[in-house]
Order: sequence, then structure tokens, then C-alpha cells
Amino acid sequence: MPFIACQAQKTFQMKNKNTFEQKIKVLLKQMTIEEKVGQMNQYNGFWDVTGPAPEGGSAEKKYEHLRKGWVGSMLTVRGVEQVRAVQKIAVEETRLGIPLIIGFDVIHGYKTLSPIPLAEAASWDLNAIKKSAETAAAEASASGINWTFGPMVDISRDARWGRSMEGAGEDPFLGSKIAVARVQGFQGDDLSSPTTIAACAKHFAAYGFSESGKEYNTVDIGTSTLHNIVLPPFKAAVDAGVRTLMNSFNELNGVPATGNVYLQRDILKGKWGFNGFVISDWASLNEMITWGHAKNKREAARLAALAGSDMDMEGYVYIEELAQLVKDGVIQEAILDDAVSRILRVKFELGLFDDPYKYCDEKREKETVGSKKAHEAVLDMAKKSIVLLKNQNKILPLKKEGQKIALIGALASDKNSPLGSWRIAAENNTAVSVLEGMQQYKGNELLFEKGSEFFIGDSNFLQEVKINTSNKSGVKEAVATAKKADVVVMVLGENGFQSGEGRSRTELDLPAIQQELLEEVYKVNPNIVLVLNSGRPLSINWADKHIPAIVEAWHLGTETGNAVAQVLYGDYNPSGKLPMTFPRNVGQVPIYYNYKNTGRPTNKDNNVFWSHYSDVEKTPLYPFGHGLSYTTFEYSDVILNGTSFKIGDDVDVSVTLKNTGKVTGKEVVQLYIRDLYASVTRPVKELKGFELVKLKAGESKTIHFTLNKETLGFYDNDGTYVVEPGDFKVFIGGSSITTLETDFKLVD
Ligand code: BGC
Repeated sequence: MPFIACQAQKTFQMKNKNTFEQKIKVLLKQMTIEEKVGQMNQYNGFWDVTGPAPEGGSAEKKYEHLRKGWVGSMLTVRGVEQVRAVQKIAVEETRLGIPLIIGFDVIHGYKTLSPIPLAEAASWDLNAIKKSAETAAAEASASGINWTFGPMVDISRDARWGRSMEGAGEDPFLGSKIAVARVQGFQGDDLSSPTTIAACAKHFAAYGFSESGKEYNTVDIGTSTLHNIVLPPFKAAVDAGVRTLMNSFNELNGVPATGNVYLQRDILKGKWGFNGFVISDWASLNEMITWGHAKNKREAARLAALAGSDMDMEGYVYIEELAQLVKDGVIQEAILDDAVSRILRVKFELGLFDDPYKYCDEKREKETVGSKKAHEAVLDMAKKSIVLLKNQNKILPLKKEGQKIALIGALASDKNSPLGSWRIAAENNTAVSVLEGMQQYKGNELLFEKGSEFFIGDSNFLQEVKINTSNKSGVKEAVATAKKADVVVMVLGENGFQSGEGRSRTELDLPAIQQELLEEVYKVNPNIVLVLNSGRPLSINWADKHIPAIVEAWHLGTETGNAVAQVLYGDYNPSGKLPMTFPRNVGQVPIYYNYKNTGRPTNKDNNVFWSHYSDVEKTPLYPFGHGLSYTTFEYSDVILNGTSFKIGDDVDVSVTLKNTGKVTGKEVVQLYIRDLYASVTRPVKELKGFELVKLKAGESKTIHFTLNKETLGFYDNDGTYVVEPGDFKVFIGGSSITTLETDFKLVD
């Protein structure tokens, strides 16, 4: 180790957190402009890419820059051996020995995969979601990683947008709670623990509002949507102590997020007082040029730095331009000092200066990655994520004995698709398939037929999935098998790589020839349980009309087949609720429960002049918050502790929930409000509370909620939070279309 690096290590091996700021100052004084810029530079590793290959990013150059201390972070380097190798260069071969922070997309698990985030959100189970993030952090940190690019907290109302799978759905209240659970799960109480990692709330901001659901598209939204819908989960993550944010590929109202002073300086670092750092998205600094905002790289560097983008992900913009901009006096060195301080602060908090190799323990890696504990945790999460959409004639749960069951669909035996989209560290084909899960129930005869091929060739993270639209071989066999069966289980939907980044769709029905297969099978045996796989809401009108039981099983990760089988056979009673509205057809999209009333909401005069469609009902196929159980629940006695309240008072709301069925079950009790008149119109319903309640058959429980200043107000068009006097309705029930209601007044 060179002498100077030893010095640096000694200087910074002081444990007391209160002195981080002093240490940062000391270190900044020693750093050259190039070394400061280096801290703001992040390179992708030498193996996997998660975006377009950049110009000039040769491995040789990356090593050279690493040795000069011109790299502050690397992404997609994984495994103790690889991480140790790059960290060793940073710590032992550079002048100051500043350790790297190692980032990775730990989005729904690391190697042992959890359900995709949208599926996890369907559990509405904050403890489980937090635990899932904890499990992911334990695995990733054992593999050398100390920073995840998650959680994604983008609100999405548009199922066409492929990245809907990566967020928590359409609602800012639920989204905020889940953002907090995930941040807490990743970061724990102590960031310096070797089993926790820094989290990153992304993508700041409004990426989910990409026009027409088209990936990387422009976003043009008003202040009301920005402040009330888009920003709350970010704010919640910041308040929960998230240490980093990632900005986004989109422009917001004409200004790319990466160069957006309003978002990053005024709101995030100003109003919200965020003292962690902001990373760009993959080469998003360069994309400011393509957007037509920056003339060249120099200008992109200037705009991004001034706007508060602290680290450049694989863009080569800061490393090429920033030092010169400072030397030319175009950018003040104080801008660099601020960015570098933020980055160093997180490195100190992680304890990297105390021990840069703390995440590089081969023994822990062996014991933790892929452990039994991790498998149990993702199985638990997978079961909790399943949503029972329909269960006519109680066809589910399946009887465990004496049945002939036909299992049909290429997805039923697929061990790759259920892994979902973000799974760089997982081996291909490592999910338990539905076929394997169901084979464990030996009391029935199980007959399997693919029905038809779903896609052609390979499906992978980088390429489009090539859908089979013509080869119908296998349909006949499937129909023949279905004919012999008592019950048919069909696993249909999307391939795991049909949602995620770069995977927007304009059709939301069953792809390939699956619809045809479903209808053919239905003709010979209508006793069908449809298990849907998807990374987004689908429009499945025909299925809803004809198929008696429908289960939304998303992409549930490594333990998919076990989770699905346990739910189908009733060993687990489903309790998931939709975090995103299912449309009747794609023309309804964006469709969401918290819409505005309009001036003509109903058909009063029996003519066409009201807000509706001529060709389809305006209601969704399945509303936000919908999900059934193998038991039934009854709601009664919505009681408030008054009828009129002063602004600032607590409004206590209680409701009685009874399990009226025959088995134990869990229900997500949902509370919505409607603010009837306001200076800025309010949605017809807004979720403001929920509780997951477990009840035995026949059992009742009174559930209490409190509404207060934090939940009864909204952001006005200047972005100021206001609580206005007025009339409010309160709705409670098991989905967003509940009609059980009461009301109160709020007075000055
Ligand atoms: C995605 C980010 C991701 C990054 C690094 C980008 O393409 O938008 O969400 O974290 O790549 O893999």
C-alpha cells in the first residue's frame, strides 16, 4: 500500500459519526480538482450492461482512471472476488485511497429473487416488503455490494409503460408507505452494518408519466399532479433517510430531469433538506444533448452539475469536461465540493473508510447468497403478493385428492420467465415452475401440456421477446388433455422480459396465441383456473366474462411454483389487493381510481353529453384495491368521533370487520376520503389509510384509523401544502369502489 493511502486510511479510521463532516473537510482540502471530479464519476463494471454501450468506455481506460483516483463508484461489479479486485485498486493504488461505493440493481432480490416490486406492492404488507428488502440487502451485501438502485418509487397510471412492474403502482399514499418500508429494509437502523446497503429512490422525477406509456418519452404534467402524485413517495423516502436518489431519463415540462434545477436543487436539496447524493441515470447526462437541451458534453456537464446531479453514471461527461469547466471559471469549485461532500458522507456512513473490504467476506458470501433463509423469505413474499381476482362457484381452492388436473400453458413449465426483469445476479432457469410446484401435490393426477410455444428463440434482458404468433402446434394436444380433466389450470400472460425497462406495449391483452388457446380449451372444458403472469395490469375482458377463477400471479421470483401451488390448493389463503387498476381495454389507459369527477360525471339526461366512452364502460375491469380471499368479509359500523372538526384535530374513524366465511383469512381494510370542494379540485377518492387484518372464521374486530393534518390536505398549484375547511366523505371497505361511507366537516 503506498504511504499516502496508509495515511488516508489512518486519518479516516475514526468511528465517531459526529466527525464525518470534519473528515470530509480535511479530505476535500487534500483533493485535486481531478480527484474531486473522479468521485463524481461512476463506471459500469466490465461485464454486464444495463444500458447502451457508451463510446470510449474501454476496460483499459477504466482501469487507468481507477488507478488515478478518477472513479468514485462502480456499478454492476458483483461477487466478493470482483468487488475486492476493484476496491483494492481504489484503496491501495490511488493517491488518497478513497474507497469505491459499489452500486447494483437490487430491485426484487439479488440472487434469490423476490416477486417483482409491483407484485410485492399487491401484498399491502409493509412488514413483509421491508423484510424482502432486508433479505435482498443481506444477499447483496454478502456479495460485495453496498448500494442498491432501489426502491423505484415512480407512480404509474399507465400499464403500457413497461416499468410499471418496478414500482408500487398508481397510488401516492400506498407508494409512500412502500417506499419507506423498502428504504428501511435496505438501510436498516445502521448503515455501517455489513448487512445493510444504501438505498436509492428513483427516478427523480415523473418518469412514470412518460407520454403515451412510451419508454423514455417526454413528460408534461402540471404542478398539481407533480406535487400530489409524483413527489410524495420521494419525499417519504427522503424523510425516511434514503441516502441517494437517481434522476431520470425523461424531461419534465421541457427540462431533462438530469439538468433540472427546480427538482434537484430547489425541491430535493432545498425544501426537503436532502444531504445524500444524486446519481444520474445511465448516461442521462449525454442524453440531455440528444433531447436538445445541451449543445455538447461541456454544456451537459455544466447544466447537470449546476442542477445538482452529483454523480455521472457511465456517461463520461463529468470526467471529460468538469475539471476544465472549473479551471475556466465557468463552474465554481464549491459546486464540486458540495457534490463530493455528499458522496463522501455516504461512504463514511457505510463505514467504507473504516474497512473498505467489509462487504468482501467470502465465508459470509457462501453462507448467505442462495441460503435456505433467503428462499423461505422470498416464498413468503411470493404467496403474499398473489391476488385472487375472481373465484366463481368457489372453484378454488382445488381439491387435494381424486382429481384429474390439466395444467396448460408454456408459462407453466417455464423456469426463467417467473424470475422477472431485474435479475442480473440470478442464474437463468432457476425459478420453481408452476408445474414443479403442482407436482408436489401428489393426491391428484396432473397432466401437463404446453399448448403452444410462447416465444421464439431466447428471451433476455437486452433484446425484445420474439412472440410466437403463428405456430399453433400443441393446441390440439392441450384441448384433448383438457377434455379429460376435472379442472384445467392455465398459466398464461406475459413473459418476464415483456415488462421492465424498454418494454412498453400498446396492447394489454394476452400475447402470442394464448387467447386462442384459452378459448379453444374453454370450448371443451370451461372449468378453468386462469393463473395470470404479468408485469403490469392486463385487459382480460373475455377471460373475466367466461373463466370462473382468475389468479394474478405476476412474476413471483425464484419460488414462484411453490407459492402458486400453495395458493391454488388452499394451503395459503390469498390476501393480495391490486396496487394498479386493470383496464377493460387499452383505450381506457391511463386509468386510475383517484381520478377527478369532471363537470359531467353521470348520464343525467339520457343523451351523450356526459364524461364517458361510446364503446366501453368507463369503469375498470378490476379496480385498485380489489382482491378476494377464500373466506368472505363483512364491513359494518363506520363510526367517527364527531361530525365537525377543527383543522388540526384528529378525526378518529373506526369500522367493524367480520370474517363471515369458513376459514381464517386476511383482509386489507382500506380507508378513502373525498374532499368535496377545494381551491384545487380533489379526486373522487384518495386512499388515506389501510390495515392488513387477520381474522379466524366468525371472528370480528374493530379497526381504528386517524385522519389528521397530514392526510386531509393537499399541495396547491404553488406546491404549498394546505389544509382547507370543507366537507369530507370517508369510505371504508375492501377495494376502492367501496360504497360504505360517512362524512364530516372540517372548520377553521
Ligand atoms: C435504469 C436504472 C438503473 C440503471 C443502472 C438504467 O437504465 O433506468 O433504473 O438503475 O440503468 O442499471
